[in-house]
Amino acid sequence: MSKKLIRYEQRSIYTKLLEKAYGDFWTHNSVSYKDDLYGVQHKFDEKARQVFLKTISFQSLMDNDIVGIYTYLAKFVDDQTLQLLYLYIAQNESIHQLSYSYGLQQTFGNEADDILSNAENEPAVLQRMYKEEQVEDDFVSKFNIGEATIKDFVNVVIHAYLLEQIKFPVSFFVTFKLNDTYNGAINGFSQALKEIAQDELNTHVVTNMNVLKQLIRENKVDKEFVEKLVVDRINEIINEEEIWAEFLFDAGEPKGLNKKLYKYLVEYFSDEALRKLGFNKMFNVIKNSEISWFNNYRDINKSVVAQQETDSVGYQSLIINDLNKFDERV
Ligand SMILES: [Fe+2]
Ligand SMILES: [Fe+2]
Repeated sequence: MSKKLIRYEQRSIYTKLLEKAYGDFWTHNSVSYKDDLYGVQHKFDEKARQVFLKTISFQSLMDNDIVGIYTYLAKFVDDQTLQLLYLYIAQNESIHQLSYSYGLQQTFGNEADDILSNAENEPAVLQRMYKEEQVEDDFVSKFNIGEATIKDFVNVVIHAYLLEQIKFPVSFFVTFKLNDTYNGAINGFSQALKEIAQDELNTHVVTNMNVLKQLIRENKVDKEFVEKLVVDRINEIINEEEIWAEFLFDAGEPKGLNKKLYKYLVEYFSDEALRKLGFNKMFNVIKNSEISWFNNYRDINKSVVAQQETDSVGYQSLIINDLNKFDERV
């Protein structure tokens, strides 16, 4: 069976996103972790070390899983540019997962394996990724017997969107804050996470946001249906993140981080998820200086000089190509 030839769709938002994503391409070994072991051993205290390892463990396992989600989203959609974009995102997720594993190996040597094996058996980590995994498994089973519907697809897209718009940025914030308050203890991981955050927030989140908006616009799915699923899922995430925060800080709160700030971040990013889709906010928390700090800190273009001062070997993702405001335009 011959497949339809892909046509270049200049006006498609997915073409623009794909072209932007190609410009941002980076690989796991383009970041140097040479000083991270020293930082973890000599700059971190025990509280910071625990929070760092728990955060990286979750992200590593979750990114590994989400490769599968995007692969199936690519199989489901008809739009061939969107299909390419979803496949590209799946590839991104593999690089993210590889970069966590690579970073842990560069930093901890043989112990890296134990860290990841412990994470695979840690109930708190499994709790934090349970719902996304369940929705993915359900979708894959239905897809494989030809029974996946547009509503099933929307449900998976919403779970991916909220994972990447709420849980991930909160975890990025945690790692960036540890690096900042503990005197650059984990510069390597922090640099890799800036690349990862760029992929997640500027490509993955924006893609899924556009997919949901387009389906609503084209009346393929009711706005009310989408809004209810989003609100219900956010309520679940609030609970999941409260449980995660208890675990994250069970050895104590490191400098710069605490449960109150964590809760604020979850609510802020939840409101952002709703705002971007054009829905009413649930928490109406005020944007504070921590958010401005986060947005500034994660800006890769601003860290060009800093990165060149280190011995990083990859600069290809630093091409200034500012299409970050997509979500505001569509
Ligand atoms: Fe990822
Ligand atoms: Fe992602």
